[in-house]
Amino acid sequence: MNDLAGKHFVLGLSGGIACYKAAELCRALIKEGATVQVVMTEAAEQFITPVTMQALSNRPVYGSQWDSREPNNMPHINLSREADAILVAPCSADFMAKLLHGRADELLSLMCLARPRPEVPLLLSPSMNREMWSHPATQRNMQQLTDDGATILGVGSGFQACGEYGDGRMLEPLELLEDIVAFFQPKHLQGKRVLITAGPTFEAIDPVRGITNLSSGKMGFAIARAAHEAGADVTLVAGPVSLKTPRGVTRIDVKSARDMLAATQPAAERADVFVATAAVADWRPANCADQKIKKDGSGKAPALDFTENPDILATVAQGARAKAGQLFCVGFAAESQDLVANAQAKRERKGVPLLVGNIGPATFGADDNALVLVDAKGTMEVPRASKLELARGLVAEIAKRLPKK
Ligand code: CTP
Repeated sequence: MNDLAGKHFVLGLSGGIACYKAAELCRALIKEGATVQVVMTEAAEQFITPVTMQALSNRPVYGSQWDSREPNNMPHINLSREADAILVAPCSADFMAKLLHGRADELLSLMCLARPRPEVPLLLSPSMNREMWSHPATQRNMQQLTDDGATILGVGSGFQACGEYGDGRMLEPLELLEDIVAFFQPKHLQGKRVLITAGPTFEAIDPVRGITNLSSGKMGFAIARAAHEAGADVTLVAGPVSLKTPRGVTRIDVKSARDMLAATQPAAERADVFVATAAVADWRPANCADQKIKKDGSGKAPALDFTENPDILATVAQGARAKAGQLFCVGFAAESQDLVANAQAKRERKGVPLLVGNIGPATFGADDNALVLVDAKGTMEVPRASKLELARGLVAEIAKRLPKK
């Protein structure tokens, strides 16, 4: 999936050691379908050569406002009019101070000032030493730049090139890419709180064994990413999976169905949307042995008694918020046959307005899927696509169904 297909970026580099990351970022943007025009300040050229950036972007790099390659000698106008966004990465503390004052004494700051607003957004990826980052001047400048319409991307924390440890590192190229892709997604859920359960649960038999299932959590994680991209504040309650947390999403790790319910119920008190994608174990061993169960030499397997787990979706859907229409609940169902009939019956049984059906278990762990959306009005088939594309489509369908304020 090329999330940035057709998008053209001016990638501006100001002076900072993180210029080395700009090379990888340029490649990442291009791999995602974008075209990139690099503009470098004189200070940036101390850290990385224009040759490297030209080779990676497949375009000559611009560095001066006096450039006779442009027939009108106005690169600040021509290059900014072609762009879908100007992305300054790395953006030094000094460059921010300059932007703040509307200084325009070299090509990159001149172009930022001359860009058409709001058609050409300005995205800044700060990069600096931790003391420079936390300095009131920098924090004040960032606030003012935000008020002036720029978007400040986050910073990383950790070991810095200067040998110190703290906040202010430029984000890694793939983190920036995720944030840039998110920036361009429609904001269907701006200001909403979305709660999602994902992955399997693990029901312990003894300290070293348990019962679980093959759910990978990929669909739930994709929905968390899509909801965050759509502007929501997202909490993801995840069973044991080895997936990376989508950027900007609050993750709560749990093991058993009861842990999942305990994490979900309080969060549901604040949520506007609840999407239950978790493959919750219906049953758990009635007793979890304190010590590892050993063979007793008889050749007989130990007897296991089971007790039913709470139904998280049904419990939340019966809560006061859902009943008052303040919490929109969405269920998932993996069926092996009669998908639509089973999904419709399950929707009614769980008491939710929307249920998403798919034919499992072939989808477990896969990167794509095909869905059918079932609500009181009928069914809607969603053809096979990547889980992220499906998640974005589902988020748009959920947004359409939310009460209008
Ligand atoms: N679910 C839940 N808690 C449970 C069981 C299921 O929250 N204890 C949620 C799932 O996250 C999903 C929906 O209910 O959104 C349907 O899950 P599924 O396993 O298909 O339904 P079951 O109620 O277990 O029905 P059955 O296994 O009989 O098909």
